Amino acid sequence: MAEVLTIILAAGEGTRMNSKRNKVLHELTGKPLIGHVVELANEISRQTVCVIGHQAEMVKETMLNYGTAEFVYQENQLGTGHAVLQAREYISSHQGPVLILYGDTPLMSQETISRLIAGHGEKNAGMTILTAELDDPAGYGRIVRKDTGEIEKIVEEHDTDDKTAQIKEVNSGIYCFSSKLLLKSLAQLENDNNQGEYYLPETMHYIAKKAPLLPLFTERTEDILGINDRRDLAQAERILQRRIINEHLDKGVTIKDPTRTYIEAGVKIAPDVTIYPGSYLRGETRIGRDSIIGSNCQLKNAVLSAGVEVRQGSIIMDSEVDSATTVGPYAYLRPGTKIAKSCRIGNFVELKKSQVGEGSKVPHLSYVGDANLGRNCNIGAGTIFANYDGEKKHQTSLADNVFIGSNTTLVAPVKVGKNSSTGAGSVVTKDVEKNSVVLGVPARFYKKK
Ligand code: UD1
Ligand code: CA
Repeated sequence: MAEVLTIILAAGEGTRMNSKRNKVLHELTGKPLIGHVVELANEISRQTVCVIGHQAEMVKETMLNYGTAEFVYQENQLGTGHAVLQAREYISSHQGPVLILYGDTPLMSQETISRLIAGHGEKNAGMTILTAELDDPAGYGRIVRKDTGEIEKIVEEHDTDDKTAQIKEVNSGIYCFSSKLLLKSLAQLENDNNQGEYYLPETMHYIAKKAPLLPLFTERTEDILGINDRRDLAQAERILQRRIINEHLDKGVTIKDPTRTYIEAGVKIAPDVTIYPGSYLRGETRIGRDSIIGSNCQLKNAVLSAGVEVRQGSIIMDSEVDSATTVGPYAYLRPGTKIAKSCRIGNFVELKKSQVGEGSKVPHLSYVGDANLGRNCNIGAGTIFANYDGEKKHQTSLADNVFIGSNTTLVAPVKVGKNSSTGAGSVVTKDVEKNSVVLGVPARFYKKK
């Protein structure tokens, strides 16, 4: 396939979103619209240029998190034709086809784009327009064809009359151009329409005189969905969710209720994992074989090894859980937590920035913060790791085989030695030697400084 230059248009504000944020920064399955588009552009082209304007810096920064691009600036948004013109230097130094993508059309697939570029090349076309038929064409430019089937013109929504408004074949806004003809036709563009804008599709009238002007029809109507308002965004989210869920189902993941499970694009799940309804899997979450995610759990950047069971209502954020460990119901693993193999983290337990050694148990109603637990420890119900003295956070460390009695408070910084125990209700303020038992409450009276 010929080397392609892709130009992404993303300078507009997207006023119909009613948002203080630029439209292309809104997220679909955890990834901004512009992220979806730059990834596609990078896959299919030699170079990607993006036209930015509204909130330019933020759009640029966001985009570079997902791919590579050069940027040109469009100060006033005078229309799609004017936007492409801002990339004229890149177009004039490029020999092959120029592909136009929109920052607000994030569902476009590589399959459709490949067909567009191939069709354009085979026919030596000057311009190839991707079209589709929609039951509800409102908002899109309508394709008016001649009796011969060739495209006669495109009528923008604002310029339609009763007759053209009925046409169901629409302009996707995605085109492939010959670079030379694109440059020449842009130079001739005028803005004598109802919006006073320089319309990119209008370049076709100049180009049609010099080279074939081709429609390329796609049946994949979902691909061309342009996000103009929040209804479109919600619709796109549904479509993309269904695609993601289907991919996981095909790879061997059991999803009990696909309509009530939400999985972001970056999540990886091994075969034979089971996911119960209401769960929300986000970011770079990884789930190992045979794991079970109970109902209504939320996992973000969670790394689970094989055979982990996360029970109902649990939340795991930026944390790791090793194999055969169970978490929950209703556990909360906050960032920086690492649980080893065969552990049990029970109901209403919160952990933060803590490591738990193999075989240890924190079965009920505890707070474990800034702590390091050895192997085979048992933490009684109601235990609190008091890590904060009002000014600073402090560490607690338990060696292997430590048994903490119910309702113990461990006042950090504190260490408990190997094989030691605390009695129920103890308040531990000093380090405990190995092989010993401590109990009691050392609350005494001190005058405030
Ligand atoms: C455009 C097409 C329409 C097509 C539809 C498909 C034109 C004139 N119309 O209409 O035929 O059916 O897309 O979704 O092209 N942009 C800029 N600078 C500008 C104007 C727009 O960068 O000066 C960018 C926007 O940020 C957006 C994209 O171009 O990402 C499309 O602009 P938008 O205003 O949404 O065009 P539509 O009215 O949807
Ligand atoms: Ca649009």
